[in-house]
Amino acid sequence: MPTTTMPTIPALASALTGVEDEIRKLATSSTVPIVNSFSGRITAAGGKRLRSVVMLAGSLALSGEIPDKAVTAAACVELLHAGSLVHDDLMDNAVERRGVPTVNAEWGPGPAVLVGDFMLARASQAALESISPYAAGKLAAAVTDLVEGQVLEVLDLYDVHRSPDSALRSVALKTGALFRVGCVLAAHCAAASDEVATRLSEYGAHFGLLFQILDDLLDLTSSVERLGKPVGNDIRQGVYTFPLLRSLTEEQRELLAARGGTWEDGELAGLLAGLRAGGMVAETVAYCRSLAEQTARALPEVPESEALGILRQLPVAYLEWAVSQIS
Ligand code: FPP
Ligand code: MG
Repeated sequence: MPTTTMPTIPALASALTGVEDEIRKLATSSTVPIVNSFSGRITAAGGKRLRSVVMLAGSLALSGEIPDKAVTAAACVELLHAGSLVHDDLMDNAVERRGVPTVNAEWGPGPAVLVGDFMLARASQAALESISPYAAGKLAAAVTDLVEGQVLEVLDLYDVHRSPDSALRSVALKTGALFRVGCVLAAHCAAASDEVATRLSEYGAHFGLLFQILDDLLDLTSSVERLGKPVGNDIRQGVYTFPLLRSLTEEQRELLAARGGTWEDGELAGLLAGLRAGGMVAETVAYCRSLAEQTARALPEVPESEALGILRQLPVAYLEWAVSQIS
């Protein structure tokens, strides 16, 4: 979702600029210049900054302002996210993300572990020094969730009998957890009550699930131009995702089992076309629509505001944007 098409308000737009500045500062704070060059380049390539939008709008909705600590918290979450993607790209053997060569492709696998580690550690350190020990602890707990979600995915690789629930469990940990912790930190910076914090964190967990399921759907249905990577990458990597697992026919399951990780381009294109012609898109979009409504319903009961309106609209707006990316 390009930032320009997102609903926004001036305080949010200016805080997002602050987040970018803080990310740049943290990502380039190593005493070793080459680490800064990789970490800085990866984070400068951007991304949707959806986690930040949710956190900053959450902060505004809860306290009517966006304190500096909330800006730092959003930068920490984005840096942690970017660091996890450095590791993810290494695991996927990916050569490019967001138009930028991956660290593993350009510098090698060992250094990619180190650059990712630097980004993760720098985010935790900033949370400890500039927010609070509570915030640093929550971020560290989210890292363990991300790792566990990723490990669960690895355990299920190439398993054509992976259940949709197993895929959901992994997604809730590998993606839901970071959206959730972002909301926990936004509530913490706004000194919200436990009840409000719990509701906002549920909003984040649902949003993360929605985001990743749509990401997985686009991997199966978008175009190489829009994705910036080949369509069907997950299937080639043996990652059988929730949208796929829910709508596979027996014949398609047998084809997956027979091909494993070795696909002729035309045959994979045929499978993807078959999935699109079947019920996968409609079923996943219906599931996501209900999830988007559930996400909005989780919002805490706080006084009505423009920021609360953004949080309420964002899940469906993101769903509509993702649907527009289907080819
Ligand atoms: C991207 O998903 C990957 C994640 C959301 C989680 C990555 C987590 C790890 C590599 C565990 C280690 C992390 C830390 C914090 C130490 P995807 O692969 O579905 O998305 P993609 O298509 O953009 O690659
Ligand atoms: Mg990946």
